[in-house]
Amino acid sequence: MDYAVRAEELKEYITEHRHFLHRHAELSYKETETTNYIADELRALGIEVITFPDYTGCIGVIRGTTPGRTVMLRADIDALPICENSGVPFESIHEGVMHACGHDCHASMLLGAAKMLQENREALKGTVKLLFQAGEEAFYGSHYYWERGYLDDVDAALGMHVWPTVASGHLCIQDGNLMASCDNFKLTVHGRSAHGARPQESCDAIVAASSIILGIQTIVSRMTTPLEPLVVTVGSIRAGTQFNIITDQAVMEGTVRTYSPEVRAKVEQEIRTVMNNAAAISGCTAELDYDYIEPSVCNSDLELNDIARQSAVKLYGVDILRPTVQSMGSEDFSFLMEKIPSSLFIFLGCYDEAGGYIYPVHNERFIINEDILPIGSAQYAQFAEDYLSRYGGDAQ
Ligand code: NI
Repeated sequence: MDYAVRAEELKEYITEHRHFLHRHAELSYKETETTNYIADELRALGIEVITFPDYTGCIGVIRGTTPGRTVMLRADIDALPICENSGVPFESIHEGVMHACGHDCHASMLLGAAKMLQENREALKGTVKLLFQAGEEAFYGSHYYWERGYLDDVDAALGMHVWPTVASGHLCIQDGNLMASCDNFKLTVHGRSAHGARPQESCDAIVAASSIILGIQTIVSRMTTPLEPLVVTVGSIRAGTQFNIITDQAVMEGTVRTYSPEVRAKVEQEIRTVMNNAAAISGCTAELDYDYIEPSVCNSDLELNDIARQSAVKLYGVDILRPTVQSMGSEDFSFLMEKIPSSLFIFLGCYDEAGGYIYPVHNERFIINEDILPIGSAQYAQFAEDYLSRYGGDAQ
């Protein structure tokens, strides 16, 4: 099948699905209507569907006529707690919930791929699993499926995201580090309160917190290698009640991003060292809750990356490919990459200044040019067929 041609024929089909999903945007783990809609559509296409009595998302299974490996295509399906202000005629009808990260695009593109692969299943040398994944924005959305063994038979996986640092309609299929790990922390300083005019009787939690925040800056500048990118951000601080009370507590929250597992493993201890020493100067104590959230996204299987690039070039020629800068954002596909070592994550560009498609993801004005949707569908489908053909009949 010429997936580029067929996907273009299916543009209206894909776009209509996108409009429904966008209009009915649902938050992480609450994607019930979304799941029912997708599962119904897969069944209508004659595709076997696995749904879950106690969880959202679903898995479609397309079995080729020849046995072989199993390749998984993944789309996330959840939306964000954002009041939409995009101006599209199919704005979310759910107040305060918006598909501002393009997951409606991913799900509809995967439905387009599902339809094509089902039409073309005689040519598939193995099995395609279609994971419509819940709860990506909540970090742990994919755990349910792999913890219960639904992905045990998967040999390779592809995830895709519409991406505003890549030119609209182009694909970025990049080797190596792509997105950062994400760990969050909460740091609480305990001191002793006193009248604002009698500092000698206090252990000032605000002064201690200020020293800690400044000290934390040296983790990036002095305590870790400059050759590995690292972000340590304190994003919130809460302390005190009014001008003439020295407060006994300050609470701050922050996030840590890096590509390197070695740097990642070091940061918690460095924060503890800074925290304990800086707090002690003011006679305070402090405690740290440190949550390891998501590993980084690294396209480390170079052979698989090549298959994906060749699929793209076969569909649209070499000009379809574009590089991009790495992102310090995170993505929970990284957990699937840990479970399925042969996996990759790619970007479908959606930035187009002339067309006005300029807003970043997670912005209330985020919009895309829907001409890119068939490209995503075709890439999903072509990659699945090409991967299975490469290892045809060779069950791993
Ligand atoms: Ni996203």
